Amino acid sequence: MAIRKIRLNGDEVLRKKCKPVKEITNRTLKLIKDMGETMYEADGVGLAAPQVGILQRIFVIDVYDDNGLRVFINPEILEVSGSQKGPEGCLSVPNEEAEIERPNYVKVKALNEKGEEFVLEATELLARAILHENDHLDGKLYIDYIK
Ligand code: NI
Repeated sequence: MAIRKIRLNGDEVLRKKCKPVKEITNRTLKLIKDMGETMYEADGVGLAAPQVGILQRIFVIDVYDDNGLRVFINPEILEVSGSQKGPEGCLSVPNEEAEIERPNYVKVKALNEKGEEFVLEATELLARAILHENDHLDGKLYIDYIK
């Protein structure tokens, strides 16, 4: 087990734009494994690489469905539609929550940890989690949406 330190709001690493992963190396795989462990340890449903101080386009999500841990490398949002409003939190903004409006549907393309491309269509919580984590890769936090 390797739990990494979660960077908190105010840390400038959370505001940087992440770089695409060029090659999935053993280091990448170790990072992904650690991100999963760190997320579960913190009781989160998602964690993006910049939250552990790594500026690469990677995030993991587990919305506690049958799928288990989902890994997204170099994700690209292809389509969004609809809208949902619900409570949202972030491991980098501990003990806080706010009602945030997001699209209810998202179509995303990414690579898994084997480097295989997949396209996923998601709604509700999974869609929210994908959009939240994807924002992290561009230095955005959910609190930016609070007026
Ligand atoms: Ni977050």
